This record gives sequence, structure tokens and C-alpha cells, in this order.
Amino acid sequence: MSELVTVTVPLADRSYRVIVGHGARTKLADMIPEGVRRVAVVSQSGMPFTLETGRETVQIEIGHGEHHKTVSTMETLCREFAAHGLTRNDLVIGFGGGMVTDVAGFAAASYHRGTAVMHVSTTLLGMVDAAIGGKTGVNIPEGKNLVGAFWQPSGVICDLDALETLPEREVRCGHGEMAKYHFLTGEDLSALPLTERVARCVEIKSEVVASDERESGRRALLNYGHTLAHALEIATDHAMAHGEAVAVGLVFAAHLAEVMNRIDTARVEDHIRVVEGDYALSAAIPEGLADELLLELMGRDKKAIEGLTFVLDGPQGIEVVPQVPAASVLAALRQMRASQSPGTPRTTVGS
Ligand SMILES: NC(=O)c1ccc[n+]([C@@H]2O[C@H](COP(=O)([O-])OP(=O)(O)OC[C@H]3O[C@@H](n4cnc5c(N)ncnc54)[C@H](O)[C@@H]3O)[C@@H](O)[C@H]2O)c1
Ligand SMILES: [Zn+2]
Repeated sequence: MSELVTVTVPLADRSYRVIVGHGARTKLADMIPEGVRRVAVVSQSGMPFTLETGRETVQIEIGHGEHHKTVSTMETLCREFAAHGLTRNDLVIGFGGGMVTDVAGFAAASYHRGTAVMHVSTTLLGMVDAAIGGKTGVNIPEGKNLVGAFWQPSGVICDLDALETLPEREVRCGHGEMAKYHFLTGEDLSALPLTERVARCVEIKSEVVASDERESGRRALLNYGHTLAHALEIATDHAMAHGEAVAVGLVFAAHLAEVMNRIDTARVEDHIRVVEGDYALSAAIPEGLADELLLELMGRDKKAIEGLTFVLDGPQGIEVVPQVPAASVLAALRQMRASQSPGTPRTTVGS
């Protein structure tokens, strides 16, 4: 086994360890809290390896895709937990990508009003983002992740062996979030070896979460690049995956900051270089999407309490900026499209 790195998420008496590296799953049994007799492993078909918990274990499979991330799946899970005699001193393990860890975490948060959960993350996006920080939840027709709870895990395993079977597109999604961490810290993460790079992303997210667990302020910075990203996901009916949309959203946030005289052109070019160069992601807005549609969708963003709200770079670093004028947003969209040569690779959507 190559080197494992341990990162602690510092949350006082709820602090927990995240173990990152090839073969990290071998540490699972030792990380299980004392007193746990039964374990329910929530997962999907096609996982790259199996888990050894050293306890009486039941495996529960859920379906693939966002349309299975529902209250109904959560109810099914809780009924399975009950059928297998899981007590509130036992453990749920979310074993999969962000979809699995979100729904397993929410079921654990609710079962017996709170049962311990651990995550074994198997996607890059899950490792650097979804499995860390205690946000759990499911979708309802009125909105994504609209129902959920803050419920911190007791431990997280990021076994990099899982990435060997991960489809290329899922890898790109993880890279979109990694590029975001690059801008939040100014560190060139792409230069680090994989174990250190994932561990550093976990550390950055942990530090932000620890400073603002329930997102009353600073945690919102983790939404850098996400306002346009969410609009693109909806406008393309999810033809664009989340991380792909974040890549475009990061470059857009830079153009908007420049239009608002918060940063200079060199800093915009920095964003393009990191997203397109270091992470080999497309930063092009897909063709066929009207600026007015994107503007309207951005106005519906969860952060938009006081008019259009963005997370933007500026002289004081990256911060939440409310009341952004619609004219600036439209100007930034035009500037971004104009700067993208016709030959830029992009997803074509609509007519
Ligand atoms: N809680 C949070 O803070 C947070 C943060 C970001 C995203 N999320 C949520 O995470 C979800 C997206 O997560 P995701 O990108 O991991 O996607 P995902 O969990 O839907 O996984 C994508 C697909 O890859 C498969 N897969 C997983 N691991 C694999 C592996 N090692 N090899 C081959 N296939 C594998 C899955 O079975 C699934 O079909 C969204 O629901 C999003 O809302 C949550
Ligand atoms: Zn994201």
C-alpha cells in the first residue's frame, strides 16, 4: 500500500478523520466507532471493490442518478435499517459517489433521530467535496437538495483505487471542483501528486466548513463559480454535468469581476489558464443558450436574497457580492462569448 494521508475535520467534539490514499479502505474497520454492532452499507451496483467492516453487515443497493435521490429512497433505506435491527448505536456507511453519500447521510441523520454515518467515497467529486462537511439531502420536484440535514460523518475514507474505474466524465467533474479550490487558496494544486492533491482539497474544504458549519457566511465561498454553473445545468437539462458547468462558471465569475472593476484582465487570463490548461476543462458557454435565459436562472439562485448575488474575486480576495446589476451580468456574458474563438470546443445544446 502506498502512503495514506489523514486529514482531521476540526469540529470540537464532532471532529473526524478523513483518510486519503490507495488502499485507504483497509482502515475502515478500525475507524468504526466503539459500540457499533451492526452496519448498513448503502451503495449502488458497479462499485470498484467491497468493504470489510468486521461487524455484522447488511448491504443495501439504491438506483443510479439524481432521480433516485428522493425522500422515497430515504424511506426505503430507513425501513431496511429497521428490518435489519439497526439501533441508534449502530452505523450507516455511504459507499459511493456524492449521490449515495448525500442520501445515506440524510437517512442516517433521520433514523432514530440521528444514527452515526461514515462515508467511503468512490468519485473524485465525492472525495474532494460531497463526502466532507456534513451536508446531506435529497431532491424534491421543487428543487435539488431542498430537503436535508446537517449531519457530520464519524469518519471518511477516500480510497484512490476507486478512481481507476471512474468514467472520464466523472473525473472531469472532480477537476471542476479542484479548480475552484485553486482560486480559493491561490495554490497550484495541479502540481501535487494525486494523494496530496486530494488531501489538500479535503483540508481546504474542512477548514472552510469548520469556520462556518451551517453556512451563515464563509461557507458560501465554496459556491465560487456555481451561480452560472447551476443555471447551465438547468438550461441544458443536465446535459452539462455539475463539474463541467462549474468550470465554465469559474471563468464567467472572473469576467464578471473584471466588468465590475474588481480584478484586471491578467487575473481573468489566470482563470482561463487554470481551467483550460491545468485541468483541461472547457470554459465555453454552450451554444444555443440565450443570455436572458441564463440571467433569469441566475436570479433564482439560492444565494439571491438581495438581488443577483455572486461569489466574486476582488481586491480583498473572493467574497459574496450581493446586488450585482443585471447589466453587468449581461456584459460579462457578452465579453466571455466574444473572447471564445468559434473553434473553441463546447457542448452544443438546443437549436
Ligand atoms: N453534500 C455536499 O456537500 C455535496 C457537494 C457536492 C455535490 N453533492 C452531491 O453529489 C452528487 C454528485 O456526486 P457524484 O459526482 O459523485 O455523482 P454520483 O454519486 O451520481 O456518481 C456518478 C456515477 O458514477 C458511479 N460511480 C461511483 N463511483 C464509481 C467508481 N469508482 N467507478 C465507476 N463508477 C462509479 C455511480 O454509481 C454513478 O452512477 C449530487 O447529487 C450533488 O448534489 C453534495
Ligand atoms: Zn459544486
